[in-house]
Amino acid sequence: MIFRQFFDSISSTYTYLISSGHGREALIIDPVLEKTDQYINLVNQLNLRLVKVIDTHIHADHISGLADLRDKTKCITIMGEHAPADVVSMNVKDNEKISIENIDLTALYTPGHTDDSYSFLMNDRVFTGDTLLIKGTGRTDFQNGNPYDQYNSLFDRLLKLPEETFIYPAHDYKGESVSTIGEEKNFNPRLQVNSAQEYALIMNNLNLANPKMMDIAVPENKNLGFNRQKQKNLNGISYDRLKNLSENDEVLLIDLREPTEIKKKPSLLNSINVPYSGLQEYLRKEKLINKTLIFYCAVGERSALAIQTSQSYQIKQTYHLVGGLNNL
Ligand SMILES: [Fe+2]
Repeated sequence: MIFRQFFDSISSTYTYLISSGHGREALIIDPVLEKTDQYINLVNQLNLRLVKVIDTHIHADHISGLADLRDKTKCITIMGEHAPADVVSMNVKDNEKISIENIDLTALYTPGHTDDSYSFLMNDRVFTGDTLLIKGTGRTDFQNGNPYDQYNSLFDRLLKLPEETFIYPAHDYKGESVSTIGEEKNFNPRLQVNSAQEYALIMNNLNLANPKMMDIAVPENKNLGFNRQKQKNLNGISYDRLKNLSENDEVLLIDLREPTEIKKKPSLLNSINVPYSGLQEYLRKEKLINKTLIFYCAVGERSALAIQTSQSYQIKQTYHLVGGLNNL
């Protein structure tokens, strides 16, 4: 397995690159905008294909590299379902799996630092975002943070994982890079409490200054996705137009979502399923020259990217559903 930890010394952020091996699909967690070229270089050097990037929550101390990586590599951007609308192209629920070639991550909803904070469990390790830090925990005083929620996320979820589970946080300010559940249980000073009330008392009296980047980073990070206008500009159509067009025999309706998403919300009638990460291969293999393609996905971002992707194939016409299925 390929597992790399990057460090951004300006925001003290850790970013993780994961893949099951050379030549295979890769995933990045919590990328920093200024470092995206560094990640892409390594992805290329190791002959990997970046297909998914995840943010554990809306960060307040740095601008996320999600949008830049999406624009440069056409990868899928992912956050938990509590993230603000339309930030990413795919949202996951608590306990849902995120898959790349040979690797599964399980999303764990761990609110408290923010109300959209998720952790991601991968076999013997867990990416804890700012919920659980090494000998610390993420502050709970902005972005709908709540020390009681965080207490539950810590004591009812993360600390119930096996003690030998490795912890990889989104930040460290003291030079440590990895810990374990067992070490944190025993030695993390914030976790040596007997009740949620006691924990909240600690968290409510930290009196920390706001992060320097907060006023810039939070709005920017809430705006990473393709807005409606950008979606429209990429051959975007309404649902009514989609229905009209798809009555024609030469029209192919393509659902770009993953099987896990289709399980949550079924595909439109008469459509075929081509998961977004397999689109290039599909367009290369199938003879679609005389067809009109209509793409759709969850929020309209993957389908907009599919319009860009399909431009290098000789297809008669391509459209996509603005706002995706979640908007219907
Ligand atoms: Fe944070």
